[in-house]
Amino acid sequence: MEIFPIFDKMLTRQDKEQLLGQRGIMIWMTGLSGSGKSTVAIGVERELQKRGILCRILDGDNIRAGINSNLGFSAEDRKENIRRIAEIGKLFVDTGIVTIACFVSPTLELRQMAREIIGPDDFREVYIATPLEECERRDVKGLYARARKGEVKDFTGISAPFEAPTNPDLSLDTSQMTLKDEVEAVVDLCLRS
Ligand code: ADX
Repeated sequence: MEIFPIFDKMLTRQDKEQLLGQRGIMIWMTGLSGSGKSTVAIGVERELQKRGILCRILDGDNIRAGINSNLGFSAEDRKENIRRIAEIGKLFVDTGIVTIACFVSPTLELRQMAREIIGPDDFREVYIATPLEECERRDVKGLYARARKGEVKDFTGISAPFEAPTNPDLSLDTSQMTLKDEVEAVVDLCLRS
């Protein structure tokens, strides 16, 4: 089957980046459930929009409810979750868009896979390093309480592992910083990239 010639005719990433006047990049946020990934991402998106930079957030609400609705939280399903997200993210990055992924992505292996799919030059790792105790105290979705009672199995931080990044581009503990400072740090990372 002849599938290659179309790539000669399609406009390139460079064409898209010129059109938008920006560079595509993946900001990969990792951290426990309730650590504040989405809150920081929403702040960053608004700040970038103000500066005329097109941004797209990928998070559990828009991915696990849709394209990944057939996946749960076993190690195998989490891997497929992150694989698909990385592939989708790559499409956005290749369109010149600042893309922010907010997923627990709990292991070094999962994040390494995402980095490889997206390509290391386009991948920045942001660790939302809010301690477990603080995430559990917030318990926005009530899932920690349910996990402690054994009602949610394989819950990250309680009955499933979370491996902290060893060398993130940025580490933010939302129990120690203001949202404004967190947003500013991520925006700076985007603008440096
Ligand atoms: S990941 O591990 O595959 O990267 P993802 O970020 O998509 O996880 O989804 C995590 C969100 O799903 C959590 O913020 C929480 O709201 C919800 N959730 C439901 N069950 C679990 C579970 N067993 N472990 C972790 N998160 C869960």
